Amino acid sequence: MTACMLELENVSVEINGRKLLSNLSFKLEKGEHVALMGLNGSGKTTILNVVGGLLKFSGTVKVCDTILTGKTIKNIRKNVGYLFNVPEEQLLFPRICDDVAWELINSGMDKKRAMEKALETLEILHIGHLAERSIHELSHGQKQRSALAGIIAAEKPLWLLDEPSSGLDPVAKRDLGTLIEKHSDVTILCALNDTDFAEKYFSRIIFIEDGTLVSANSSISTVKKTWDLI
Ligand SMILES: Nc1ncnc2c1ncn2[C@@H]1O[C@H](COP(=O)(O)OP(=O)(O)OP(=O)(O)O)[C@@H](O)[C@H]1O
Ligand SMILES: [Mg+2]
Repeated sequence: MTACMLELENVSVEINGRKLLSNLSFKLEKGEHVALMGLNGSGKTTILNVVGGLLKFSGTVKVCDTILTGKTIKNIRKNVGYLFNVPEEQLLFPRICDDVAWELINSGMDKKRAMEKALETLEILHIGHLAERSIHELSHGQKQRSALAGIIAAEKPLWLLDEPSSGLDPVAKRDLGTLIEKHSDVTILCALNDTDFAEKYFSRIIFIEDGTLVSANSSISTVKKTWDLI
């Protein structure tokens, strides 16, 4: 039997009387790479924020069989790597290498080893030369890749990725796809509206519209037809 890594059951979010999510239910098994697809404003980031413990919700969210509550969130976060939609929200230190090393030091790794690992990870992403730079000196794609380096280095079993391919050049996009494929033991929920990237690198599509689930196992052609792309 495969282990369930993430489960949402009847999850709803309401802000100022407006429903952003309505009774969403879906599961991700361990090692599944799932694209969360929907148009702008459909609720992708809201879902990731719920799982990341950043937003109040009703219903049940389970990560590795632990129910997400105010008490469990700290422990759950030890298992979750969240790549924000806006890399500026993720990169907070004066140098990129400090940002990548931070999560490792925070989880108890020796500072020297953490920095070595940060530099190794930046090399894997072909941005080792940016290690000493500040975020303000980087292009958008370089910021995206630097933020991703932090997620990869931390080696957490569940990744939440919010449009990680946006703004990447074709080579960086392909590298990101290969990297996702290589991490076959990591469970990934990835918000996307890039149909080509979703089709190429993800095994399942969860399709949402206006905060409601259309399908927890949609085909890419259904998504494209719904969006009038074919
Ligand atoms: N803090 C907030 N307060 C009130 N409404 C919000 C808030 N954040 C988002 N929304 C609304 O919630 C809905 C879902 O937004 P969300 O950011 O989850 O969409 P998305 O699918 O990630 O869109 P995009 O593709 O543009 O990133 C939108 O209608 C948005 O206007
Ligand atoms: Mg979004």
